[in-house]
Amino acid sequence: DLGYFSLLIIAYLFGSISSAIIVCKLLTLPDPRIVGSHNPGATNVLRIGGTRAAVATLVGDVIKTALPLLLAAYLDYSSEHLAWIGVCALLGHCFPLYFSFKGGKGVASMMAVITLVIPPFCILAIGSWLISAWTFRKSSVASLITAIIIPIFTYQFYPQLLLALTSLSVVVLLRHRINIVNIIQGKEPLIGENKNNSQ
Ligand code: G3P
Repeated sequence: DLGYFSLLIIAYLFGSISSAIIVCKLLTLPDPRIVGSHNPGATNVLRIGGTRAAVATLVGDVIKTALPLLLAAYLDYSSEHLAWIGVCALLGHCFPLYFSFKGGKGVASMMAVITLVIPPFCILAIGSWLISAWTFRKSSVASLITAIIIPIFTYQFYPQLLLALTSLSVVVLLRHRINIVNIIQGKEPLIGENKNNSQ
């Protein structure tokens, strides 16, 4: 219906807002698209501007993803609808309308979508990210592990959401292509490490 279609568009437009670019601009930090990993996301903002800037980026990206989903939940859309609205928000983050379609890798957005679509999976998503980050000390490794774990658990417990949530993961995994090459070549920096691992 028209309401649902509008929510998909709204989600994409909200997703297209880049917290990393805004936070760096406000704090007069370098543009995250031209330093570090060249990625407008919390991990790269941590390299550029430290913890507070990174937390602001993370919170901003979670909020912009959550807002259209909260609106959809308020309007009583099903979790399946919510999941596809989340896919659009994540596509907005990764391919933003306002920034020549060059966006981030979608990890914060993925976390927000999972949390709002399947609240108990919030613990799974955040837990697997934190445990992997603690173990391997690399943000991308934690993101990749989480993106792989989510569809496995979705398949087990919420098969009706499998297609939408697997789409989220596939986009996140594809956005980490350079990280995957860096990991294989042993060049991926540790969390917070200010080494240039650019494309
Ligand atoms: O959140 C994205 C993270 O998984 C990797 O970021 O900047 O190290 O490519 P980055």
